[in-house]
Amino acid sequence: MSETKRSLIPTPKAPESPKAPRGNDRTEEMRRLDAEAEAGGGLERREREHQAGKLTARERIHLLLDEGTFEELDKLVRHRCVDFGMQEQRPAGDGFVTGFGRIDRRLVYVFAQDFTVFGGSLSEANAQRICKIMDLAMRAGAPVIGLNDSGGARIQEGVASLAGYADIFLRNTLSSGVIPQISAIMGPCAGGAVYSPAITDFIFMTQETSYMFVTGPDVIKTVTHEEVTKQELGGAMTHNEKSGVAHFVARDDADCLAMIRELISFLPSNNLEDPPRRATSDSPTRRDAALNTLVPLDPQKPYDIKDAIHSIVDDGYFFEVHEHYAKNLVVGFARLDGRAIGIVGNQPAYLAGVLDINGSVKGARFVRFCDAFNIPLLTFEDVPGFLPGTQQEFGGIIKHGAKLLFAFAEATVPKITVITRKAYGGAYCVMASKHIRTDANFAWPTAEIAVMGPEGAVDIVYKRELAKATDSEREKLRQEKIAEFRDRFANPFVAAERGYIDAVIEPTETRARVITALRALENKRDTNPRKKHGNIPL
Ligand code: HXC
Repeated sequence: MSETKRSLIPTPKAPESPKAPRGNDRTEEMRRLDAEAEAGGGLERREREHQAGKLTARERIHLLLDEGTFEELDKLVRHRCVDFGMQEQRPAGDGFVTGFGRIDRRLVYVFAQDFTVFGGSLSEANAQRICKIMDLAMRAGAPVIGLNDSGGARIQEGVASLAGYADIFLRNTLSSGVIPQISAIMGPCAGGAVYSPAITDFIFMTQETSYMFVTGPDVIKTVTHEEVTKQELGGAMTHNEKSGVAHFVARDDADCLAMIRELISFLPSNNLEDPPRRATSDSPTRRDAALNTLVPLDPQKPYDIKDAIHSIVDDGYFFEVHEHYAKNLVVGFARLDGRAIGIVGNQPAYLAGVLDINGSVKGARFVRFCDAFNIPLLTFEDVPGFLPGTQQEFGGIIKHGAKLLFAFAEATVPKITVITRKAYGGAYCVMASKHIRTDANFAWPTAEIAVMGPEGAVDIVYKRELAKATDSEREKLRQEKIAEFRDRFANPFVAAERGYIDAVIEPTETRARVITALRALENKRDTNPRKKHGNIPL
């Protein structure tokens, strides 16, 4: 029989050899069933996937895990549906591959949907397999990685499949903050099926070959008369740039799987562990003279905060998360002294580093992830305030900005802040200020810590005087007052006098000072009051 669509129909039982001992029969049967499961939807369908630029479920798992470490579970599971002729098509494996293995020798649980069998759709039996590995992962304290490529709920199974999704959603929710959960979207992911990845901690999407949406282009056309392609609606860049649903975009499957391995290297296996340490030859006292001139003399001029990040962290290596979304706030992982840290930084090179709705939500989610998984937070601050405008106010900047404040305030991991330039207004309080339990607060001499910029302050405080002045006097008076304000407040020393800043440091010393602070905080213990859970302003 050719390995095409027909291979979904159970192969006729191999003729039994009457002389063969019983044990050998079983071994033969075991091998036949193994081969059936491994064939998936057959050669033709597998090749179709390759032609579309995709790997198969098994090839993906092979690339994801350390060589030879995959232990498959439930390989012989079949669906139990007897409607719509499904009883005639019961392939072993049923379109899913599940099990566990190692990434850099550390245990991870994994499931992969095999699009070559019933479009990778979720049967009741498949849902039980996912729940099984999620339960095992929780007991073992190991991450779960889901490789999604599926037409969603197995249509022929109706509510049994929906129930399966809900069982998974419950486990996603209960596992949140206990074990890292990572989703890769490597094909279709539509309808309610999107909500499992959405609850997980990080979503990767492959460029060109993946899409995610709740309702597809056809339904949209009927309901709203909008015309949109699948890629425009829910492709990798849509979710990385516009919606912020996805955190990473990968060139292809292999790139995606390599990126997942990289991400895992920064994470502890569960919330009771510290993140793994990696030996480094980068000296903890290394100084980079370029940092002293990174911040331009003109406070209106931009610079790239990633230059500071790369200069300070071990080997200049920064693994950015959400790179394409809300670029006014940079978040990602790096190492200092071999320890994994989470970095949050205002980006003066984009929208002057202002905090807006998207940036606040992006930052808050990242801070909460790091706090849940014992990853210390290093914050770089250069923020002129919250973005003004009706769009932001109507969109709820108040509640979204409050998310970032809540997240930083609630976090009990070691927290270190470096103010490089502006720390204005409410944004000063929000960005891991001393007042919300930040352990070490440093400022560069270029720091300006004030309620607002000198220009804005003068226009408010001297409004009457400026109005009374003659036209020729007005600009002179304004400039004088601006200079006075700048002298008085646009510096780090007033805050340092009050102990809100622990030390004003030379930019070149930042790496050494932050590492010393991290070492001092190695055994930090801090807790929040006992409660069922807080009520973050969602
Ligand atoms: C059963 C499915 C299936 C599904 C695809 N297949 N989706 N079988 N249940 N949900 C089967 C197809 O019948 C086909 O089988 C094979 O998989 C490949 O599908 P194609 O349509 O030929 O592939 P393609 O053209 O690439 O299109 C992929 C697709 C499309 C866009 C995903 O198949 C599709 O629209 N599927 C339905 C998507 C959907 O609406 N799902 C329900 C979402 S709601 P044969 O044997 O003919 O090759 C949902 C609810 C979750 O998931 C609820 C959570 C609360």
